[in-house]
Amino acid sequence: MNHRTVRPADAPPPVLVVDRATVRFAGLTALDGVSFTVAPGTVHALIGPNGAGKSTCFNVLSGVRRTASGSVRFGDAELTALPPHRIAALGVARTFQNIVLTRGTVADNLMLGRHTLTRAGYAATALRLPGAVREQRRHRERAREIAEFTGLGARFDTPVDLLPYGDRKRVELARALCMEPELLLLDEPVAGLNTAERAAMAETVTAVRDALGLSVLIVEHDTGLIMRIADAVTVLDFGRVIADGTPAQVRNDPAVIAAYLGTPAQDAPVGETPVADTPAEEAP
Ligand SMILES: Nc1ncnc2c1ncn2[C@@H]1O[C@H](COP(=O)(O)OP(=O)(O)O)[C@@H](O)[C@H]1O
Ligand SMILES: [Mg+2]
Repeated sequence: MNHRTVRPADAPPPVLVVDRATVRFAGLTALDGVSFTVAPGTVHALIGPNGAGKSTCFNVLSGVRRTASGSVRFGDAELTALPPHRIAALGVARTFQNIVLTRGTVADNLMLGRHTLTRAGYAATALRLPGAVREQRRHRERAREIAEFTGLGARFDTPVDLLPYGDRKRVELARALCMEPELLLLDEPVAGLNTAERAAMAETVTAVRDALGLSVLIVEHDTGLIMRIADAVTVLDFGRVIADGTPAQVRNDPAVIAAYLGTPAQDAPVGETPVADTPAEEAP
């Protein structure tokens, strides 16, 4: 079976080093020598206007998209040559820009997240052999803990079809956490959420760092929120890194301001302007 050893709770996650990653589509360089480092146990944001290459970068990190050149190291592992399930087994879990939930209850969806950690084979589980039953019970208890942690405790046995959108976004996050990852890749976790739901999700993301000690790489259009919760920010534009640093450094960077406003640098800093609440898709 494809299982892995879960890191002791007090050991920091491995560092993620993206080194000159390049991805080309026909006639277009979606990532052009992109380099950045996600320090262990930090919330690191990847931002940039629509088409900047953020999702492509996530696809590279999760093994869905191959690089033309460059490397991605997660601790000692080189990720660019590995298929998605091997990367997931190393402790890299992702959520998607658009929610991908299966039918069934919250519990069912979270148990899917436990799948890579399940030792007993399908046959043993299907035959309800004692060891497999015990293991399933343990996984279900852990799934319930994670549901509580993500604010879904009261929804554990609710069919996901019946959940409001905000809770469905949480199920995605919870399911990724159920893989016991060391690095969590979040693609637009607050897209479509209202103000209160955004604040709650932001709190959960920082709790993932502070209480669970995980590294989080987050793509998000809500730059105001990013500036509040991120430890570090990498800004992409047309496939290139145009800025990299703390939120304060990046917010005042003229190249960043220009990229977001689509004009030469002006005196309006990112995160304190209407840009913060305007999805980049709608920018000219
Ligand atoms: N499968 C694909 N085939 C061709 N071009 C693509 C594909 N996926 C993305 N692109 C292009 O690559 C660039 C980066 O896209 P993407 O990574 O989705 O940006 P972002 O997530 O920052 O909005 C865009 O110009 C986009 O049109
Ligand atoms: Mg995208």
